[in-house]
Amino acid sequence: MNSPARDESAVAADALDLRDPYPYFAARRGETGVFHGTVMDYSKTPESLRPKDTYAAVSYAAVSAALRNNRVFTSKLYDSTIGVFMGPTILAMSGSAHKAHRALVTTAFRPQSLLRWEPEIVRPICEALIDEFAERGRADLIKEFTFEFPTRVIARLLGLPEEDLPFFRKAAVAIISYADKVPRALQASNDLKEYFLERIEERRSTPTEDIIGDLVAAQIDGEKLSDEAIYSFLRLLLPAGLETTYRSAGNLLYLLLRHPEQFAAVQQNRDLVPQAIEEGLRYETPLTLVQRYVTEDAELEGTAIPRGAVLDLCLGSANRDETRWDRPEEFDIFRSHTPHISFTAGAHTCLGLHLARMETRVAVECLLDRLRNFTLLLEGDPHISGQPFRSPNTLPVTFDIAAPHR
Ligand code: HEM
Repeated sequence: MNSPARDESAVAADALDLRDPYPYFAARRGETGVFHGTVMDYSKTPESLRPKDTYAAVSYAAVSAALRNNRVFTSKLYDSTIGVFMGPTILAMSGSAHKAHRALVTTAFRPQSLLRWEPEIVRPICEALIDEFAERGRADLIKEFTFEFPTRVIARLLGLPEEDLPFFRKAAVAIISYADKVPRALQASNDLKEYFLERIEERRSTPTEDIIGDLVAAQIDGEKLSDEAIYSFLRLLLPAGLETTYRSAGNLLYLLLRHPEQFAAVQQNRDLVPQAIEEGLRYETPLTLVQRYVTEDAELEGTAIPRGAVLDLCLGSANRDETRWDRPEEFDIFRSHTPHISFTAGAHTCLGLHLARMETRVAVECLLDRLRNFTLLLEGDPHISGQPFRSPNTLPVTFDIAAPHR
C-alpha cells in the first residue's frame, strides 16, 4: 500500500494551468491513480468551504471504483458545500433515502416526456434563438446561444411563464456562481425558494403537465415529496442541468471550430452529431471534478485514505486515461466508442443525461441546418478554461445563411 508522504493540498492551485490542466493530470496519473492532495483550484473558495485533508483519484479505474462504492465514498459532503445554496437534495443523499427520492424525481424525466420535449420545446427554442442573430451574419455563440437555450428549456420544462424568464435567468446566474459571490447566491437561493413555493401551491390546486406538476403529483407507496424536497430539487437543476449543458455545448462548438475538417464532416453528415457530442464530453469534460467524503479508513488503487478525508474524483483526468483510450490527448470524433465518465457512474449517475444529449444534439443540428461557412474570430481570445467547470467565455463567429427558418 502506498502511504502518503506529504500533504499536497496547497500544491494544486500553483501547478494547475486553468486553460490546460491536462498536463498536470497526466503527470499525476503517471505516478499513481490516487494521491494525497487535490486537483481543485481553491484560490477563490472561502476558507470555511475548503476541506482540511484531501486526496485525489485521477486514473479511470480509481474514479470508477470510488463512484461505485457509495458506502465508503459518500456524497454527504455536498450538504456543507453546494447544499448550503440548494438545500437537501438527492445529490447529497445515500442508501435507501437516495433511492426513494431519486425514484420520485425520476418520474419527471420519463422517456415519453423526452420524446415530446424535443419537437414541442427544445427545437422551437433553438430555432427562435438563431432567428435573433442569423441575419446579422455574426454572433457570440456563448452569449447568444449556448447559455440561453438550456436556460429557456429548463424554464419551459418547469412550466414557468414567459414573463418570469428574466428573473429566472438572473437567479440562475447568481446561484451557479455561488463559489465566487456567496451573499448574492444565498439571496438568489431564497428568492427561488419563495418563487417555487408559489408555483408548487398553484399546481396543488390546478395540476399541470410540467416538471413542477409531476413532482407535486409524484407518489411511490403513498410517499410524496415535501415542499422542501421539491424546491431544493428545482434549485439543483440550475447547476446540475443548466450549467453543465451550456458549458458542454460551448466546448463542443469550440472544439469543432478548432478542427475544421471534423466540423466539415459533421456539417455534411448529421449522423455524426451524437459521436461528436460524446467525444466533446470526453475530451473537454464540462465538470472535471466531483467529490466524496470518506466514511472509513479505506484503500483505493493501493493508496491508503483515512476516514474523514475529502476525495476528489477527477473525471477530466479519468477521461484522458491512456490505459483506456489510444491518443487520449487528441480530439477525434471518429475514434471507436469507449464510454467516458462525464456523467459519472453508480448510484448518482446523472439523472438528466438523456435530456442533455438530446438538447445538445438538437442545438447543433439547428445551427448546422440554418447556418454554414462558420469562421471563429480570434477577438476576445476564445479558449476553454476553468476548474472544476470548464468552457469558453466567448465564441465570436461569422457565418452565412444556409436555410431560412421553416
Ligand atoms: C452535459 C450535461 C451534463 C453533465 C456533464 C452532467 C454531469 C453530472 C454529474 C457529473 C453528476 C454527478 C455528480 C456527483 O455524483 O457528484 C450529475 C448528477 C445529476 N445531474 Fe447531470 N449533467 C448534465 C446535464 C444534466 C441535466 C440536463 C439535468 C436535468 C435537467 C441533470 C440533472 C442531474 C441530477 C438531478 C443529478 C443528481 C443525481 C443524483 O444525485 O442521483 N444533469 N450530472
